[in-house]
Amino acid sequence: MEGGIRMSKKRKKNKSLSREIGLEIGAICGKHFLKLEHLHYGYWTEDMDVEIFNLHIAQEKYVDLLISHIPEGAKIILDVGCGMGQISRKLLDRGYKVDCVSPSAYLAECTRNLLGDEPTIFECFYEQLETDKRYDVVLFSESFQYIPPKDAVAKTLSILNPGGHMLICDIFQTEAQGRSSLSGGHKLKNFNAVMKDAEDAMELATDVDITENTAPTIDIECDLFRNVGLPVMGLVEKLMHSRHPWLTKLIMWKAQKKIDRMHKKYLGGDRTGENFKKFKSYRLFLYRKK
Ligand SMILES: C[S@@+](CC[C@H](N)C(=O)[O-])C[C@H]1O[C@@H](n2cnc3c(N)ncnc32)[C@H](O)[C@@H]1O
Repeated sequence: MEGGIRMSKKRKKNKSLSREIGLEIGAICGKHFLKLEHLHYGYWTEDMDVEIFNLHIAQEKYVDLLISHIPEGAKIILDVGCGMGQISRKLLDRGYKVDCVSPSAYLAECTRNLLGDEPTIFECFYEQLETDKRYDVVLFSESFQYIPPKDAVAKTLSILNPGGHMLICDIFQTEAQGRSSLSGGHKLKNFNAVMKDAEDAMELATDVDITENTAPTIDIECDLFRNVGLPVMGLVEKLMHSRHPWLTKLIMWKAQKKIDRMHKKYLGGDRTGENFKKFKSYRLFLYRKK
């Protein structure tokens, strides 16, 4: 039994590590090839053409939307899962005091380079954060999905000033029936149950559904995989095969399950903006601590 617990903890740790590495790769590629400064879906408005070179504009619009929901009078903000620090940069430029949480050493370093020494960057998982500081706003921009909701809410309550706010902008799972290769997000139903349990301590101030405005990014991501990711992977395999045929065969054999899963995920045909709207609900929630 103990072995089983140790095993599942190890698996959980490995999963967190792969996720962090995935985010870091995304950050490096997005920044260098597409000038993307953020790691979120962005916010598409009707007047925009849905194409990859507009994603950075959608991302800026999303940040503007987030900032427009920061309550008046807030002075100090904790940016949980700060990515490369760009949202914090904007907050600092607008006169807020900001601290950050980043479990990724690479992303923490990017953030430090961008923000300088003034903000404290807590290099840890939010669940493990220990601080005596108190905040007017705790912000989760697409980071809430990685943290067990109960832990996130309990930690947030413990570090918010009275009257302070928890601002969440993230994906949640709807109750739509059927299978979907779209992963990510807590079940909305479970999140609502956690917030119901916390209703003596927190009240809902704002709930905006921005699923329609985030869904186009899924179509872009899938298109990118099909038209860039797959051909590049094929060429790398061809090159490796010409130099080290046996080693390549071995690697491909070892990785086949993962490759099949990736093909199914991106080429299975169900990873579309339309399906995103069915299986996901992208919400901006603002809760006020009583
Ligand atoms: C999709 S990125 C979003 C980054 C940024 N907030 C943005 O909107 O561009 C998710 C972020 O959550 C962070 N993260 C993942 N698990 C976390 C945890 N348990 N505690 C705090 N941050 C976490 C990642 O390191 C990453 O910075």
